[in-house]
Amino acid sequence: MHDRVSVDVEPHPADAKSSQAGSAEAGIRIAGLSHNYWQQGKPILAVKDIDLDIPAHTFVSIVGASGCGKTTLLDILSGLVTPQSGLVTVGGESPQAGRKDCARMFARDALLPWRTAAKNIDFALATRLADRAQRAERIGELLKAVGLDGFQNAYPRQLSQGMRQRVALARSFALRSEFVFLDEPFGALDALTKVALQDLLLKLWEEIRSTVVLVTHDLAEAVALSDRVIVMSSRPGTIVADIDIDLRRPRDVKALQSVARFHELVAELWGRL
Ligand SMILES: Nc1ncnc2c1ncn2[C@@H]1O[C@H](COP(=O)(O)OP(=O)(O)O)[C@@H](O)[C@H]1O
Ligand SMILES: [Mg+2]
Repeated sequence: MHDRVSVDVEPHPADAKSSQAGSAEAGIRIAGLSHNYWQQGKPILAVKDIDLDIPAHTFVSIVGASGCGKTTLLDILSGLVTPQSGLVTVGGESPQAGRKDCARMFARDALLPWRTAAKNIDFALATRLADRAQRAERIGELLKAVGLDGFQNAYPRQLSQGMRQRVALARSFALRSEFVFLDEPFGALDALTKVALQDLLLKLWEEIRSTVVLVTHDLAEAVALSDRVIVMSSRPGTIVADIDIDLRRPRDVKALQSVARFHELVAELWGRL
């Protein structure tokens, strides 16, 4: 249906797992998870009684109203927030910030403004791959895959918002991390740029097959990209539905617009919110 992107997916010897990393095949397990924040001395229950098993190599989206605890859940998986109760494992290990087998991408690109596109990707890659020439080669391939061939030396301020998100996406996948957590990565983009980047994400994922947890409030985006969509209630966030997305892969976001089943699934999600 579409061209495969030219990302080299052979494991590189320098990509050998560090002791910080878990086993990719273990996937993600969340059991009895609840978390309170404190605001002015009062507890704010952000997420409540979450049980969720995500098998390795699955693409799962989490949808729900603003403030229902989606970012909290990703912060917990990323090891940035320690939950009050419950058991969470990512690749069989407790979440920990800075784990090399986990990558995170935010709604607004977090590119370093004083580094070029290539150097922004290199920033992440250098921690894992020592050989400079090999890094340069992989960065070249990734920039090409995200349609930014020739922009290696451009600074973030010289790129549009969409282009910056492409760089951020390339960076998220540069490490071929086993686990990728995306927090509304396309929320700030116009509709057309959004579709282009959703397709790009699909292509990168189909090559690399990380275990992805994507948070979004865009129901069509969740259906187009995912194997499974988890619907959360408003705060305190609990899981109210867990829907299998039985659309064939590889997918093409534009082509899905004329697939009846795609619209049925989006309608079903609206019904569950
Ligand atoms: N650091 C924090 N301190 C206190 N309250 C917080 C903090 N982060 C989030 N919250 C509260 O927890 C709830 C869930 O927030 P969040 O996970 O960001 O939701 P979402 O990403 O679904 O919009 C909200 O009510 C928010 O105000
Ligand atoms: Mg959020």
